[in-house]
Amino acid sequence: MRKTKLGGRFTFTGTALTVHRIGYGAMQLAGPGVWGPPRDPDAALAVLREAVEAGANHIDTSDFYGPHVTNQVIRKALHPYPKGLVIVTKLGARRPPDRSWQPAISPKDLKAGVHDNLRHLGLDALDIVNYRAMGAGHGPEEGSIAEPVTVLADLQRQGLIRHIGLSNVTAAQVAEAQAITGIVCVQNHYNLAHRHDDALIDDLARRGIAYVPFFPLGGFTPLQSSTLSKVAGRLGATPMQVALAWLLHRSPNILLIPGTASVAHLRENLAAGQVALSPETLAELDGIAGEPAGVDH
Ligand SMILES: NC(=O)c1ccc[n+]([C@@H]2O[C@H](COP(=O)([O-])OP(=O)(O)OC[C@H]3O[C@@H](n4cnc5c(N)ncnc54)[C@H](OP(=O)(O)O)[C@@H]3O)[C@@H](O)[C@H]2O)c1
Repeated sequence: MRKTKLGGRFTFTGTALTVHRIGYGAMQLAGPGVWGPPRDPDAALAVLREAVEAGANHIDTSDFYGPHVTNQVIRKALHPYPKGLVIVTKLGARRPPDRSWQPAISPKDLKAGVHDNLRHLGLDALDIVNYRAMGAGHGPEEGSIAEPVTVLADLQRQGLIRHIGLSNVTAAQVAEAQAITGIVCVQNHYNLAHRHDDALIDDLARRGIAYVPFFPLGGFTPLQSSTLSKVAGRLGATPMQVALAWLLHRSPNILLIPGTASVAHLRENLAAGQVALSPETLAELDGIAGEPAGVDH
């Protein structure tokens, strides 16, 4: 794959929304445990502003990060939003005072969630809302998602949501949702070492639907692998840049939303499109998924 600025562009099928393939995930901007204010509020504003100034125009967020904190920080840093910025949020969970993650999928919860996102982001309509199935934590679990997706489709008809995506779902759940409304993206756990969704990614690619891996760098415990470090050293890149470049090479429908609270890490991540990987190096990196446990935490 040739070197590209921010990984090149992707248009969400059936929409007027075009983004660079390297975007930014805002979850790390909330405090420890995704709870409370940022550790460093000025750095949080700086990360968002630099991401957008560098051309990143896909920001992933949720009102349950903080809760409310990341949306409020995004608004403070970037409102009024530049033309072309696509903010993707998600519904389906709430954070009670004990800081746990609980499902919030009744029609009342989902409607309130849309209005909370609109208010905290300072928007009249949300570009893309992912229905985040709670499943089994960071992994999906079979079961109907028709009821909440139907509620989101109603909110879309009311003009409060422009497009609908899904998160933490199985292929069967994607098919079920598509029978109800258009689905523009799927956001599941996937990275160099965690490849349960290989078949789903290929299927979505054939249909032009975006696949947006969460935990692209391994999440709360970033990826560690001697193969990754060796390749990075050889290419003069960092391991995290190689992990992101591998995702860009993996499939043209993959969009990246790496999370960081650090401007230095943001710069590294945004430059991952400059890392070209040969077929031999891709094959070497593919081997990481088969390495002994401990690579992906
Ligand atoms: N749909 C879902 O259920 C779901 C679940 C989880 C996350 N998400 C979304 O996906 C986004 C990405 O996931 P994530 O932020 O949890 O995990 P991630 O992007 O895989 O990794 C973030 C971790 O990597 C570190 N990091 C980032 N860039 C780095 C670099 N260049 N070098 C070294 N370390 C680096 C960060 O620490 P520093 O802050 O120190 O850089 C942070 O600890 C989130 O921000 C969120 O928007 C969605």
